[in-house]
Amino acid sequence: AENGYNLWLRYLPIENVQLRQAYQRQLSSIAIYKHSPTIDAALKELINGINQMIGKVPNISSIPGGAAINFKTNRLVLAKLDQPAIAAQFSTVERRQIGQEGYLIKTIRQNRVQQILIAANTDIGLLYGSFHLLKLMQTHQSLQALNIQQWPRLKLRILDHWDNLNGTVERGYAGYSLWNWQTLPGIIQKRYIDYARANASIGINGAVLNNVNASVKSLTREYLIKTAALAKAFKPYGIKVYLTAKFSAPKELGHLKTADPLDPAVIKWWQDKVKEIYHYIPNFGGFLVKASSEGQPGPGDYGRTHADGANMMAAALKPYGGIVMWRTFVYENKKGADRAKQGYEEFKPLDGKFADNVLLQAKYGPIDFQPREAFNPLFGAMPHTHMMMEFQITQEYFGFATHLVYLGSLFQEYLRKDTYQKGPGTTIAKVLEERVNPETADSNRLTGIAGVANIGTDVNWCGHPFGQANWYAFGRFAWNPMSSADSIAEDWLKMTFTNDPGFVNPIKKLMLGSREVAVNYMTPLGLSHIMNFATHYGPGPWSKFPGWDARDYHHADSVGIGLDRTATGSDAVSQYAPALAAKYSNLKTTPLNLILWFHHIGWDQKIATGETMWNSLVHYYYKGVKQVAAMQQIWQSMKGKIDEDRFNYVTQLLKQQHLEAKWWRNGCVLYFQQYSKRPLPKDCKEPG
Ligand code: GCU
Repeated sequence: AENGYNLWLRYLPIENVQLRQAYQRQLSSIAIYKHSPTIDAALKELINGINQMIGKVPNISSIPGGAAINFKTNRLVLAKLDQPAIAAQFSTVERRQIGQEGYLIKTIRQNRVQQILIAANTDIGLLYGSFHLLKLMQTHQSLQALNIQQWPRLKLRILDHWDNLNGTVERGYAGYSLWNWQTLPGIIQKRYIDYARANASIGINGAVLNNVNASVKSLTREYLIKTAALAKAFKPYGIKVYLTAKFSAPKELGHLKTADPLDPAVIKWWQDKVKEIYHYIPNFGGFLVKASSEGQPGPGDYGRTHADGANMMAAALKPYGGIVMWRTFVYENKKGADRAKQGYEEFKPLDGKFADNVLLQAKYGPIDFQPREAFNPLFGAMPHTHMMMEFQITQEYFGFATHLVYLGSLFQEYLRKDTYQKGPGTTIAKVLEERVNPETADSNRLTGIAGVANIGTDVNWCGHPFGQANWYAFGRFAWNPMSSADSIAEDWLKMTFTNDPGFVNPIKKLMLGSREVAVNYMTPLGLSHIMNFATHYGPGPWSKFPGWDARDYHHADSVGIGLDRTATGSDAVSQYAPALAAKYSNLKTTPLNLILWFHHIGWDQKIATGETMWNSLVHYYYKGVKQVAAMQQIWQSMKGKIDEDRFNYVTQLLKQQHLEAKWWRNGCVLYFQQYSKRPLPKDCKEPG
């Protein structure tokens, strides 16, 4: 039975005889120069993958260092570019361009002998290249004339686990934490290795193991020893371990009277703690910090700035090469304050004040991982600060692990957004890659991206079988922010299910539309943050609790709906580049999918749909529900094309999603109708 455990590393037998025979001729033998834990991991993956796909275990041989390429037989060669014979096959540009993590794959031939070279400057490059070769086979591509150059555009490609030490996962919907703290450090579960393999296959090179709402316990010696065991297990796969550091640790663990970042005793405490960490975990990555936000302690408690706090920690980490990822997710529930403005207001004045081993980690939108927000105005506005993006892979606001929502489309949308901060074309991708100021860019610049993981102990890791696609897509976009959601979905489907175009084409289309479908039945036209207050599941535009009122996020009243964020309102538009501020200030030039984010619009006003605001809103909600029904139909027509287990599971999930889409639609439409006092459009009378 297929339970999804193997993710996209399924290595299904190649049934096409011609293709299988071609692979058999090309891959009957693998040669390497030197062993290392990382090369051995690559070999293991190749042997296993090739054997599963073509039913033949390749034999392994070694090549003496310095030897010329031997064209006696067809084979696959894994080699570092410090071998002159290998280097000679590539140009200087190619060898340099791929840097410390990239790779080159090339088919070379002499007479009738054909060899496939995977070459890199480092062992990890060879592992990444090996996974690429396996992907080519999994997606049934020819290996006849390969000429591939790949390297990551961002340095830090990190999964943030919001895992608590008691095994629960904050906003996790796929079981419990993978980290079994009770049996660590003694027991290294196979699952940890499979986790590392999956990450390495898409180039993820870091993992923050504990929740942003941190317990100081993870900084104790006992837990550092456990963490060290995980770090050691992940190391061959190129994955560094990071920890969330709670700002009050000097008080809670060190029994100091203060955690003031400028206090000498506090500075000393962090220096000693970092020294201890590196003693146990020599390849430790650094800290993630959520400070002075949602009740977390921080420099604000002592009248200090975020820069004071971040730089103090960064200084302690610097001698060991560690970094700080300091989050910009801060807000106060101040009545009348526009929450969308607060992160920018707090951080923009600090541009240029952060140490060079600090990155600011900002969510894609200024509020909170909503189905659609305007992009976070901090991107492009902090030219003197390393900025990293934070996406949420776990579907906190997207129907948990019940709704099918392919986030590749969302990742693509934000990464390609134009901030206009240095004129048109200043995309967020460029900002993250620090390609905006080519004159100051150097190869040591710190760049990165983080995704809040959707992984847990569920047999299939992610709960929803299609949740795996979001983990996969995150890795691919982290590797190259200008990737295409479309081709990522296609690769993932082929590797995870089947190469049958009768399945891949329609289901790829379904995936690519699925995020917009969810926006339609949850928060169309730029609405946001109207979910149930307590669970974040299901609708709750009526939610009202002390310090939190959903009406502050939709402003529905007898006149209309939406937030005026132009100069006549909160003026959040002024945080964007002038060209964009002007565009967003005018309803006519505001993208239709953000009109309610930027404008309060009268119920009877005609909008770009050609209908009134009220009728348009209702139509979007109804459309979302119909679209889920269409997704169900398409899925049903796939019966027999994939394994029964996952087919049946997704069938049930889509049925539930359809019910819940109606729940969202009915809840929101009926709620807003109290204000609009208008009838539903005639074609929207479907009961229930
Ligand atoms: C959201 C989420 C919290 C989380 C917070 C954060 O608000 O609901 O659980 O702690 O984001 O990103 O820090």
